Amino acid sequence: MNNLPKVELHLHLEGAAPPAFIRGLAAEKKEDLSGIFDENGAYKYRDFWDFLKVYEAATSVLTTPEDYRRLTLAVLEESAASGVIYSETFLSPDFCGGRDVGAWREYLAAIREAADEAEVNDGIVLRGVITCIRHFGPDKARETAICAAETAGDWVVGFGIAGDEKAGKPKDFAWAFDCAREAGLRLTAHAGEWGGPDSVRDALDDLGVERIGHGVRAIEDLALVDRLAEDGIVLEVCPGSNVALGVYPNWRAHPIHRLRERGVTVTVSTDDPPFFHTTMNNEYDRLADAFEWDDGVFEEIARNSAKAAFCDDATKEKIFKKLETP
Ligand code: ADE
Ligand code: ZN
Repeated sequence: MNNLPKVELHLHLEGAAPPAFIRGLAAEKKEDLSGIFDENGAYKYRDFWDFLKVYEAATSVLTTPEDYRRLTLAVLEESAASGVIYSETFLSPDFCGGRDVGAWREYLAAIREAADEAEVNDGIVLRGVITCIRHFGPDKARETAICAAETAGDWVVGFGIAGDEKAGKPKDFAWAFDCAREAGLRLTAHAGEWGGPDSVRDALDDLGVERIGHGVRAIEDLALVDRLAEDGIVLEVCPGSNVALGVYPNWRAHPIHRLRERGVTVTVSTDDPPFFHTTMNNEYDRLADAFEWDDGVFEEIARNSAKAAFCDDATKEKIFKKLETP
């Protein structure tokens, strides 16, 4: 599936950091991060909650806009190598300047500089979706939303929420989502990964999102599946992440195929690729193996992903052209 052009809608920038990149940065800064790597140099964690800790430990050596410029270049090089032509990445002002608007602007400028360079060199287009972190709580989410609103525009195109899905309720974050919506940002929320169908319903009803990050556990309630299909709610599905973290025991048990068959718009992303030993090419190959999906299915998924992208129409037109004539 290396030859197919791909559109990725769910990628955490820090979660996409190659382990060697983080190790190099830790060595430069004389920080000891050896505890988060295994004997092969890969990230090491026990379960989702430990994964979040390791993620935050790895992120702790990303302390300057220049670190993020280099990170963005490294990440986009990997994505482009998998045939990704358009990517939306989650960015957290929590990690980029501690939610101070002035500092956040500097991090954002550095990330955009790298994105411009990668667009020229590799033809990959990047846009940002600002995320608050659920387990950091609603007060910090408000500050994050203000950073997002202050920088909303043609590059910062969306707002979302990630982190521990079991911390608090979506409605605790309604102010942050209202603020982002009023600034013109499009909305998505992680739900239905660790929480059941109710977590997806709450994200839709209390936050008014048009896309759901994961959302796969909606399959446990077919009335909800039908609602997703009828309302055109798009799922940012990350099958390799779900299998690696144990949401499903193997690829064949993953509900992406059943959701699609029942009319839900599913897209395919990697979430935090090196953590889950995956790439977009690997996701496509495993899905083709597990469900006998042919190129036609993947081409439809890429078109649906482009439709569901949060970028402006002119950018979308360019993506569609590339999908038509790879
Ligand atoms: N942050 C990074 N990856 C995540 C995931 N899969 N779920 C929730 N928060 C995350
Ligand atoms: Zn995610």
